[in-house]
Amino acid sequence: MITRHGGPNVIEVRDLPMPRPGPREVLVRVSAAGCNNTDLWTREGAYGSADDPSQKAGWLGPLDFPRIQGADVAGIVVACGDEAPVDVVGSRVLVDPANYEDSRPDARPVDVLGSERDGGFAEYVVVPADRAHRVDDSPLSDVELAALPIAYGTALGMLERGSVTGDHTVLVTGASGGVGLAAVQLARARGARVVAVCSGDKSDAVRHAGAAVIVDRQLGEVIAQAQVAAPAGYDAVIDVIAGPMVGPGLGLLRPGGRWVVAGALDGWAVNLDVRRLYLANLALLGSTMHTPRIFDLLVDLARRGVIRPVIAATFGLSELVEAQQQLAQRQHVGKLVVVPSSSRRHADINQGRFH
Ligand SMILES: NC(=O)c1ccc[n+]([C@@H]2O[C@H](COP(=O)([O-])OP(=O)(O)OC[C@H]3O[C@@H](n4cnc5c(N)ncnc54)[C@H](OP(=O)(O)O)[C@@H]3O)[C@@H](O)[C@H]2O)c1
Repeated sequence: MITRHGGPNVIEVRDLPMPRPGPREVLVRVSAAGCNNTDLWTREGAYGSADDPSQKAGWLGPLDFPRIQGADVAGIVVACGDEAPVDVVGSRVLVDPANYEDSRPDARPVDVLGSERDGGFAEYVVVPADRAHRVDDSPLSDVELAALPIAYGTALGMLERGSVTGDHTVLVTGASGGVGLAAVQLARARGARVVAVCSGDKSDAVRHAGAAVIVDRQLGEVIAQAQVAAPAGYDAVIDVIAGPMVGPGLGLLRPGGRWVVAGALDGWAVNLDVRRLYLANLALLGSTMHTPRIFDLLVDLARRGVIRPVIAATFGLSELVEAQQQLAQRQHVGKLVVVPSSSRRHADINQGRFH
């Protein structure tokens, strides 16, 4: 858990009482929990607020402490609350980390596991029963499943908002990272031609994930090289980097093209000439996480094993500091996943229901 905003030193490993599911909740024994850049920003309080960009806050505002992080959970349902379907007990599940503003298929997330609620960097986690999607027969391992929700859900949301289809050419930035690599794989699975921006030493892995052309950002000519790779322009840019590239980068889009942004690793204050935006009928779209409809699409891909997430490394719970440090260093390609070694006895669980 984290007890306040700060560096890795605010992470503590503690022994806690078993969490109890409420009426419409289930208790999940965590098999694997994926790490995401948002774990770092949430721990640091790096999201700011609309009034004060330097305010320490989680992505939805002030955080309650202590907080167990970890949004991406795969595991086994071991108990359920009084009003949850008891037949789910024993199932392998992939947890949708979001709760939504309402029941519409395209509703926005209003809270997220590991941010507004205690998450999956633990042996057990309580989640709403209808957010636990059964994946018993998925060919993916638990570690692979736990790589999916935030990174692949966000990437799928970006492709949907960018209306990416099989005959499109797509530029993906941050393509060696969690969201970027997912976007490469998912866009390729749709049949799109993918040009990927990453550091040159990671290019083999990104190409292997499905990129047709790599733009090595370390050469310092990202826009010029991206232009050469797609002289007719891009239908969509899938961007988690933002920063100085956004303004001039709009010129890479075909008329009517879409720049979809979900992250700002290279800076959140951008300069752009809006004439380039409106004269070419471009769209600059913000995209955050997924919707219930997009998570359903993701669960379907997971059940059918359509894409296999790339796993860079796994860590025990006691190695969470190391996992977050490695995440911050960004030397890896693919997902870092925490695998708790669950040694607890289930003494307080009676026939799958809490009493
Ligand atoms: N809106 C949402 O719902 C949502 C969801 C998930 C993530 N995000 C955000 O999306 C961003 C990426 O997340 P992630 O989990 O994919 O991160 P990640 O796994 O750390 O990957 C980011 C990659 O971007 C590249 N990069 C890092 N700093 C850069 C810079 N200054 N300029 C250009 N490239 C840089 C690095 O690859 P190379 O060294 O190979 O270039 C790195 O591997 C973060 O800002 C995160 O907060 C947003």
